[in-house]
Amino acid sequence: MNFVTDLDVKGKRVFLRVDFNVPLDENGAIRDDTRIRASLPTISWLLDHGARLIIASHLGRPKGMADPKMSLAPAAKRLAELIPNKVVMAPDVIGDEVRRLKRGLGEGEALLLENVRFYKEEEKNDPGFAGKLAEAIDVFVNDAFGSSHRAHASVVGIADLVPLKAAGYLMKKEVDYLKKAVHTPVKPYVAILGGAKASDKIEIIESLLGKADHILIGGAMAYTFLKAQGLGVGKSLVEDDQSEVALVILEKARASDVSFHLPQDHVLARAAEAGAETKIVETLPFPADMMGVDIGPKTVAAYSAVIATAKTIFWNGPMGIFEIEEFAKGTIGVAKAVAASGAVSIVGGGDSVAAVKKAGVKDKISHISTGGGASLEYIAYETLPGITALEQ
Ligand code: 3PG
Repeated sequence: MNFVTDLDVKGKRVFLRVDFNVPLDENGAIRDDTRIRASLPTISWLLDHGARLIIASHLGRPKGMADPKMSLAPAAKRLAELIPNKVVMAPDVIGDEVRRLKRGLGEGEALLLENVRFYKEEEKNDPGFAGKLAEAIDVFVNDAFGSSHRAHASVVGIADLVPLKAAGYLMKKEVDYLKKAVHTPVKPYVAILGGAKASDKIEIIESLLGKADHILIGGAMAYTFLKAQGLGVGKSLVEDDQSEVALVILEKARASDVSFHLPQDHVLARAAEAGAETKIVETLPFPADMMGVDIGPKTVAAYSAVIATAKTIFWNGPMGIFEIEEFAKGTIGVAKAVAASGAVSIVGGGDSVAAVKKAGVKDKISHISTGGGASLEYIAYETLPGITALEQ
């Protein structure tokens, strides 16, 4: 895979795919600009080396239709604050006006296109649409690690249509860290998986069975594993359609060298809301009118002891509903244990990243991935469609 600095971009029209899918508040202001700042090294390098830069991203899931609430205008505004006088915002993604703006770009100037997902052809990886994106483009650079698990036109389709292609700084940094965790993890390797849905994590669990030493499970997905074994979990969130797969995973885990850990105790509440009364239980079934909302203190201690032995850690997904103070202790406890471990630690996924920030340990994490789904898929499949497209 080429790296952007391998290329001579002076005077060339460069199409740069970034992941500016940033969270917005109800007034449309950016709540967290991490993803925009993360692509600045690539943007600055390209501009400093005389590229005529066309920047593209998606934001949200507008389902193929222009929706002003998902415009990239707030991102353009933020970018203009970070690198003044260099970037203008295009009114669209393709079309006559965009063509005119693209052709009018001077060396060291940038044009941010509107949300590529305003066209349904983007997610379909439509060759005609990719052709329009590639029009008059000499070089394709992908710095959108967080979107590279999507085989979309601005990530994959365009790569075949442009003569030169390369990865940006962010893409390289992400892949370098994740590659270590996938190919040469220093052992013991501990994977911590949480979040609501077991179905999101099945493939990664299967792939980790052959690689990790410990898999620690938390979040609502734990209740799917417990219920699949016939244990009563009250009103807890469960994916009943994943029961069989969960049993297969448990069986495979037993037959493998991996220690597969489920919570030993649970924080229960009657409702998933702030101020709810909580109860800690070690035995199942849960009372029928209660639901699991966090791992309990015994589990935090047990998981922390495993984490303390780790040399490599991959963490995706919270241990409970950590947005609610009363249900956050498990996730915060795990975040602190990861920070104290001294291991190479990789944390991915918006919620887990928010959790390490909430725990005040962000600076003690080796690598905070800008991609949630992308980091999970990279760990599971050892590549992503957007990376393969750069390599071909
Ligand atoms: C993300 O936020 O994980 C990426 O930007 C991908 O977004 P998507 O899940 O809507 O494809």
